[in-house]
Amino acid sequence: SEAPAVSPLAAHVGKHPGEPNVMDPELVNDPFSGYGKLREQGPVVRGRFIDDSPVWFVTRFEEVREVLRDQRFANNPAVAGTEPGDDPLSRMVEVLGIPEHLRVYMEGSILNCDAPDHTRLRRLVSRAFTARKITGLRPRVEQIADELLARLPEHAEDGVVDLIEHFAYPLPITVICELVGIPEADRPQWRAWGADLISLEPEALARTFPAMIDHIHELVRERRQALTDDLLSELVRTHDDDGSRLSDVEMVTMILTLVLAGHETTAHLIANGTAALLTHPDQQRLVTTDPGILPRAVHELMRWCGPVHATQLRYASEDIDLAGTRISKGEAVQLVLVSANFDPRHYSDPDRLDVTRHPVGQAENHVGFGHGMHYCLGATLARQEGEVAFGRLLSHYPGISLAVEPDALERVPLPGSWRLASLPVRLR
Ligand code: HEM
Repeated sequence: SEAPAVSPLAAHVGKHPGEPNVMDPELVNDPFSGYGKLREQGPVVRGRFIDDSPVWFVTRFEEVREVLRDQRFANNPAVAGTEPGDDPLSRMVEVLGIPEHLRVYMEGSILNCDAPDHTRLRRLVSRAFTARKITGLRPRVEQIADELLARLPEHAEDGVVDLIEHFAYPLPITVICELVGIPEADRPQWRAWGADLISLEPEALARTFPAMIDHIHELVRERRQALTDDLLSELVRTHDDDGSRLSDVEMVTMILTLVLAGHETTAHLIANGTAALLTHPDQQRLVTTDPGILPRAVHELMRWCGPVHATQLRYASEDIDLAGTRISKGEAVQLVLVSANFDPRHYSDPDRLDVTRHPVGQAENHVGFGHGMHYCLGATLARQEGEVAFGRLLSHYPGISLAVEPDALERVPLPGSWRLASLPVRLR
């Protein structure tokens, strides 16, 4: 079969008939149906990762959560006992042309480590993301949203505004940059870097990654001159007080992770969720008539059109029997969040968008933010931004509508995620 024109990384598509590759056009272009078919084949399905290495897809809700709770599945391939460099992550970093001396910054992320390093890193940052801290940010999030919304008409061309460009992106990037302490002048640059990184284009990455690392070192130097009360200052203080609590590489990587994970995903939750509501007028009406429903609506939008379709790979640290399949030590497992979130074993009528599906006060009932130890650190923040974004948008512009047919909405064709390239709307 022919490789799709999504990325040079699609080079291996079709090499192993019968073993789905994450770059297969069926999986990239229609992950809901593509991974849905795999889920109905079995809870654990043999496939191939981007670099052509074997991977087990875990496709069903219960099994996905089981693996994410099971610490025998490690995030760091080294823990699984594979040779250094001989794992999908290292090979991808190599294919992507990340210079050797910068690889530590990719590998040193909280997402690539396990206990006890993970526990230590997570504890250092989780203080900034407690429910109380996040609730305290709400008035500011509302203010930012209101300001952006008031200015939307200025950006209209022939009555049409791209909501991604002028609302879905600027809202979360402003919020996370204020929290971390990234100066306003640098934010457009961060947004461009974020886009380069997710493009998985070796050229873009080779240019962007070193620039980002340099930039963070520069910010760290500035904070050393004058500490403030932002998260950046707190991380610098922690590192300078005691490097065994937070190393230099860990500090830089943490800042990188927070800024990137903190805006790009949330932007696409806002975009996907808005598109979903605008194409489901009955659901939009429910949200407009009863804003109290927003927290439940956000749970449902995360399930139905969450932007992240798969987690990082996990590696078996020993031979493990998973739902009747033997996963051998060192083998990689891909948790497929998108198929789990539509698992008919867990949800009735899973394909239906139903903002009243989740009972009042019920904890989240989907895996769009992951599960277990690495459960999204920013979930409370992201949900709050979603609630504010949908609520304020629909009250400012009750007559808002899509400016194109739903089928004409263009997507960024990348594996593991659901991102729209733009979201053209008419405000009234
Ligand atoms: C982890 C999704 C927003 C920071 C994760 C994971 C998922 C996820 C699925 C787990 C990955 C895995 O287990 O391999 C999302 C989605 C978001 C969002 C869909 C928006 C709708 C945010 C925000 C922040 C953030 C706003 C900012 C603080 C992180 C961090 C981790 C993480 C630091 C790693 C946690 C750890 O390893 O312990 N996110 N995220 N995310 N997320 Fe988010």
